[in-house]
Amino acid sequence: MNKNIKIKSYKIPPDFLKHSNINLKQYKTLYRQSIKKPGHFWATQAKKFISWFSPWKKISTGSLKKLNMRWFVGGKLNACYNCVDRHLETRTNQIAIIWQGDNPNDSKTITYGELYDKICRFANVLKDHGIKKGDRVCIYLPMIPEIIISMLACARIGAIHSVVFGGFSPESLKTRILDAECRLVITADESIRGGKYIPLKKNVDIAIKKCPKVHKVIVVKRTGNPITMHRKRDIWYHEAMMGVDAKCPPKKMDANDPLFILYTSGSTGNPKGVLHTIAGYMVYVTMSFKYIFDFHDGDIYWCTADLGWITGHSYLLYGPLANGGTTLLFEGVPNYPNFSRYWEIIDKYKVNIFYTAPTAIRALRHEGDKWVNKTSRKSLKLLGTVGEPINPDVWEWYYNVVGNAKCPIVDTWWQTETGGILISPLPGATPLKPGSAAWPFFGIVPEIVNDKGKVIKNNNPGRLVIKQSWPGFMKTIYGDRKRFVDTYFKEVPGRYLTGDGAYRDKDGYIWITGREDDVIKVSGHRIGTGEIESALLTVQQVSEAAVVAIPHEVKGQAIFAYVVTKSGAKSDALKKRLNAQVHRVIGPIANLEYVQFVKALPKTRSGKIMRRILRKIASSEFDDLGDTSTLADPSVVDTLIAERKKVSNEAKGRRQ
Ligand code: PRX
Repeated sequence: MNKNIKIKSYKIPPDFLKHSNINLKQYKTLYRQSIKKPGHFWATQAKKFISWFSPWKKISTGSLKKLNMRWFVGGKLNACYNCVDRHLETRTNQIAIIWQGDNPNDSKTITYGELYDKICRFANVLKDHGIKKGDRVCIYLPMIPEIIISMLACARIGAIHSVVFGGFSPESLKTRILDAECRLVITADESIRGGKYIPLKKNVDIAIKKCPKVHKVIVVKRTGNPITMHRKRDIWYHEAMMGVDAKCPPKKMDANDPLFILYTSGSTGNPKGVLHTIAGYMVYVTMSFKYIFDFHDGDIYWCTADLGWITGHSYLLYGPLANGGTTLLFEGVPNYPNFSRYWEIIDKYKVNIFYTAPTAIRALRHEGDKWVNKTSRKSLKLLGTVGEPINPDVWEWYYNVVGNAKCPIVDTWWQTETGGILISPLPGATPLKPGSAAWPFFGIVPEIVNDKGKVIKNNNPGRLVIKQSWPGFMKTIYGDRKRFVDTYFKEVPGRYLTGDGAYRDKDGYIWITGREDDVIKVSGHRIGTGEIESALLTVQQVSEAAVVAIPHEVKGQAIFAYVVTKSGAKSDALKKRLNAQVHRVIGPIANLEYVQFVKALPKTRSGKIMRRILRKIASSEFDDLGDTSTLADPSVVDTLIAERKKVSNEAKGRRQ
């Protein structure tokens, strides 16, 4: 974000103040309490928001310095019980899930009573197939109610779910199944998105050829198109659900038992299995959902994120259902059958809280206001965004055109690792500055530090770290404690290193500037440059590859790959082959926007690729390349610039 741009700030719309859960004065008081006496604060919240089978013995132990923090030690609870059972007395007939299919005519609703019945039955199916407490279950499903049923059925019996986004390739699925040592996979015959069919079961068949521990695959019939079923291994979901016992008591779980693993990309190596534990996560997401989304009974809430990502876990499923809310689950995409789709769904179900990603807002804004203006969106009271920085002009469009200038926007900053939102406006408390995630949530102490770990202030950019432990934070990287310590705690000891850059203005507003490591965000999807490079290196002609992000108007960032080939091969056909390979290894979300064949990469004398230079050249910022004196061969830079200019000129020529 350019600090010189003048930003207009927005007061809280007066109508909103009348009913909001927390005002500015309350926020300030509670925030102070939450960081001065975190034990007392979280004990109060944990009693208020969560039902316990037995109370904790110690509210927390350990610290971020010692890396042994635990919350609600000795407490017993069950996440599924908190999302469903405890609401039955008052909400059996209330709608828990509104499901909207890809086809506008395809929809259904599920009440809390029905959800309870389905989860108990499916939990018994899992048990019948040998799944017990602590086992890992891989869920590779579309956005259909069965994904929620599966996740909660795992939570009910103490199994650990590992949801893999349906857009990942068989290869990525295999890596994740093997890493978590999953014993069972739940999938569907196919998924449908934007009218296109994706062969999920076929992908599973390919993936598990090399996964010896998987002994069962449960298949939901979504489209009914023919698929191959392996007689001894594969089971139809609908058949398994018939005749199974409808009673399944929730397992009494320990506060610090794992709830789920969710894979996310890091700077190096394979994706990391981020492990979250039950109590801390549940307290944090339940409470943050209530305050940040200003949730009230009867609200209709829609989060457009896929359940394969953390946003789906925390704020489509666990947060809303633990609060007894009605959550909308959408199978499709924002541009099918037309660009009004989101706004039509909002009108159809009278959605009043809407949470989406800047990439979707940018894409829809690009198509013009007419698609929005066709709809009323009268029901909306609050808008949210997540996943990447939102530009002030895109924010203003969202506020004025989508929200009719009456809905506050919560720009929520957080990560897979953090479990829930750490920095965000509170809608009834925080005057809004477009493009800023504003202030820390309760219990969160952000700091901005320089390369030496010293705190910096007054608009100066630095690395965003978190100083104090909070209940929603991950426990570890599954099976790799060393990587957990090295990634997040080595460079700035005693602080959680987020990997993001940020600065704080004079009013205490935090402005996120983007990732500082080798993670890029393409359409809000988090992808490690190392993963893409490894995929490129599997192509026989490639001898070296370096991937950087360049700004993209709609996607936020796009992938730019520099490729050195053996014998200097370069052709459009080879570019296509490289892209196809990246799709095959990672999935179509990792699309190479630009491939530039180069003679050599800029390296230091110790052989480290200087990505800073590659980023600048990719963005055609040739004038300010910084210090190049440490390069083993500085002349490489001139060649790279010449090659880049040649490619840009050719592209310009083609456009004219
Ligand atoms: O760079 C930040 C960006 O998304 C990263 C986390 O990605 P992931 O683990 O996939 O989780 C995304 C959804 C919680 C962060 O390190 N990010 C997330 N929210 C924002 C953001 N960047 C700027 N503003 C945000 N509101």
